Amino acid sequence: MDVFDAMNTARAMRFFKPDPVPSELIEKVLWAATRASSPNNTQGWDFIVVTDPEVRKQLGDLFLPFAERVSKFPDPGNDTDRRTLKGAQNLGANMGNFPCIIFVCGRNIYPADNPREPFMYSAVYAASQNLIVAARALGLGAAFTTLHGMVEKQIRTILNIPDEMYIGTTIPLGYPDGPEGPVSRKDISEVVHYNGW
Ligand SMILES: Cc1cc2nc3c(=O)[nH]c(=O)nc-3n(C[C@H](O)[C@H](O)[C@H](O)COP(=O)(O)O)c2cc1C
Repeated sequence: MDVFDAMNTARAMRFFKPDPVPSELIEKVLWAATRASSPNNTQGWDFIVVTDPEVRKQLGDLFLPFAERVSKFPDPGNDTDRRTLKGAQNLGANMGNFPCIIFVCGRNIYPADNPREPFMYSAVYAASQNLIVAARALGLGAAFTTLHGMVEKQIRTILNIPDEMYIGTTIPLGYPDGPEGPVSRKDISEVVHYNGW
């Protein structure tokens, strides 16, 4: 799949088959992630890849109360929001069953004399987006999420994450088992301004 097709169809995948992801493919998406740009090429990122069933279960259990809450949300009244809600519920209910979860962590190191979080997140998000597009190109699915925010302390303990590392994104990765197709985005004519606003 060429890079434009991959970008056009790299939807946030929130449903996965239980099949394991071969380690060569995991390494390929990690390779793609680490080709991203970062401020002054500081590469202030680290990746925690969780495939071990016991660790996945421990992590997955943390998200069950979220799934329970989401399942009680009122019907949003339209198909798009209904799908999003179903996806969110599935992420929470099945995180521990997904074959691979990648945590993209950031180091707040730029600029060296006055490090600022926006620079750190710029690197984490660029790496995460590369990872998601590469996953799509390899026939995998992935979702850019910040779900760790709800249970960060417990995740840090389970994964033994050093205090100086931030968790930037939580990305489930696997063979897709949900709606595929092009992303829905504004046409460039709505957002691009040539030679001035
Ligand atoms: C910074 C950031 C945080 C996100 N957090 C979540 C999240 O916590 N849960 C989730 O299901 N999707 C999350 N997403 C994915 C977006 O909701 C999704 O990409 C967007 O709705 C468009 O859907 P699509 O990519 O399938 O076209 C996040 C995306 C970004 C960039």
